[in-house]
Amino acid sequence: MEKINAIITGVGGYVPDYVLNNEELSRMVDTNDEWIMTRIGVKERRILNEEGLGTSYMARKAAKQLMQKAGSQADEIDLVIVATSTADYPFPSVASILCDKLGLKNAFAFDMQAACSGFLYAMETAASFIRSGRYKKIIVVGADKMSSITNYTDRATCPIFGDGAAAIMVEPTTEEYGVLDSILHTDGKGLPFLHMKAGGSVCPASYFTVDNHLHTVYQEGRTVFKYAVSNMSDVSATIAEKNNLTKDNIDWVVPHQANMRIIDAVANRMEIPLEKVLINIDRYGNTSAATLPLCIWDFESKLKKGDNLIFTAFGAGFTWGAVYVKWGYDSQN
Ligand code: UT7
Repeated sequence: MEKINAIITGVGGYVPDYVLNNEELSRMVDTNDEWIMTRIGVKERRILNEEGLGTSYMARKAAKQLMQKAGSQADEIDLVIVATSTADYPFPSVASILCDKLGLKNAFAFDMQAACSGFLYAMETAASFIRSGRYKKIIVVGADKMSSITNYTDRATCPIFGDGAAAIMVEPTTEEYGVLDSILHTDGKGLPFLHMKAGGSVCPASYFTVDNHLHTVYQEGRTVFKYAVSNMSDVSATIAEKNNLTKDNIDWVVPHQANMRIIDAVANRMEIPLEKVLINIDRYGNTSAATLPLCIWDFESKLKKGDNLIFTAFGAGFTWGAVYVKWGYDSQN
């Protein structure tokens, strides 16, 4: 039997209209544009501020655009995987809401929680389902409404995050394109440094948890920064070496957009010039599981068939990893 690879055949995306820029943020907490730009690199972020709308709204918009662009019919979709930490409800999943809203009658669907690395995990999971030979069309979504778990009185975290969603279609091919390799890691010892204290089964919601902002991101920034730099750099270098990729034949690095200084450090370690790194942190901030697909959505027109892409991310858990993708099409845009 011929080897089956999992090719990415399209990308769709969505960011909300509302722009929260550093000037407005500076009126909400004690911060300023200069600090945010030099320490993080975010100029503005998008916020889904219409009442009653959650992550599935953005995921649905992204997946709908993807299906239109890829010319896929609803009844052809076999599986939907949504990487998110900000599901509409503790249950059911965003993925099952998507099936309903998009009329996907033949798909099964589930959410995947690996924080900011969720899209990497979901890509590899989808690729494995495709390689099994049983599934033909899988939608993978990275979506997060980070504004719903951000404390806008905490200047150490609120400048970082934004809302957004993007989706890819994954299909089988016998050609050498698609998700060709991945290295994924988890180290649960990261828990104390990055988590949400309440709202789970250890500490359910109460007046106390609400009054004390315990339903928002808790982060020890410097520690997370240190681990993010070393782990993203190491795993990207490892996957490159393993696949005989060097600064000369890597076309694009697609890093998680958490901090411009982390992106710089990863690019430096790989000796890749910033022109070959997809960067939109200045416009969207850290949209958690959505950063990687939003990058390829934003820069799709630059990607050419045969380009070598290395995706890398780091997030709560800790979770981190790198995925090597050989891009499978020239954009029509
Ligand atoms: O996506 C999941 C993974 N997450 C990450 O990768 C995030 C990793 N961490 C980071 O990106 C950075 O640690 C932060 C952006 C969160 C913080 O940057 P930092 O350079 O590590 O700042 P810091 O927390 O060490 O704070 C430095 C100073 C402090 O003042 P003092 O104590 O030196 O006087 C803070 O109080 O900057 C101050 N500060 C601010 N000043 C103005 C902290 N936040 C702000 C702010 N505006 N927003």
